[in-house]
Amino acid sequence: MSSENKIRLLVVHGANLNLLGEREPEVYGSMTLSQLNKEIEQTAQSKQIEVLFFQSNHEGSLIDFLHEHRKWAQGVIINPGAFTHYSYALRDAVAGIQLPTVEVHLSDIHQREDFRHISVIAPVCIGQISGKGKLSYFEGMDALLEYIHSH
Ligand code: DQA
Repeated sequence: MSSENKIRLLVVHGANLNLLGEREPEVYGSMTLSQLNKEIEQTAQSKQIEVLFFQSNHEGSLIDFLHEHRKWAQGVIINPGAFTHYSYALRDAVAGIQLPTVEVHLSDIHQREDFRHISVIAPVCIGQISGKGKLSYFEGMDALLEYIHSH
């Protein structure tokens, strides 16, 4: 299939996700970010999806990336890390780019500390998938595909 016919998705990882594999492995597992991205890439290829990855520990860089690629992409999978819980600026960016977005988390934020139960981003997303490890990303991809094909 030529690349024009592929669905184009952004996969965005926020703060501290560069340390996956060494960061609190009892919570986030032993997989590194590059291993995770490789698996996402393979899954995407099998579904005729083109993905563009980005990770940053900086709120503004995440916002800039979303702005810069908003015309290219048809959807966004985002794990904002701790920005999930308080970044109104990132929320406004997600709302502003007008792309269907799924918020994903490796851990189950609803079973952890109280401050993690709140997402300021989820209300402007088409869904939130939490607590399924790497499957959260794969399910996010499926949810976006379904959404894009039905809109
Ligand atoms: C996380 C959950 C957040 O609460 C936390 O700050 C993270 C990772 C997750 O994927 O489980 O950095 O988004």
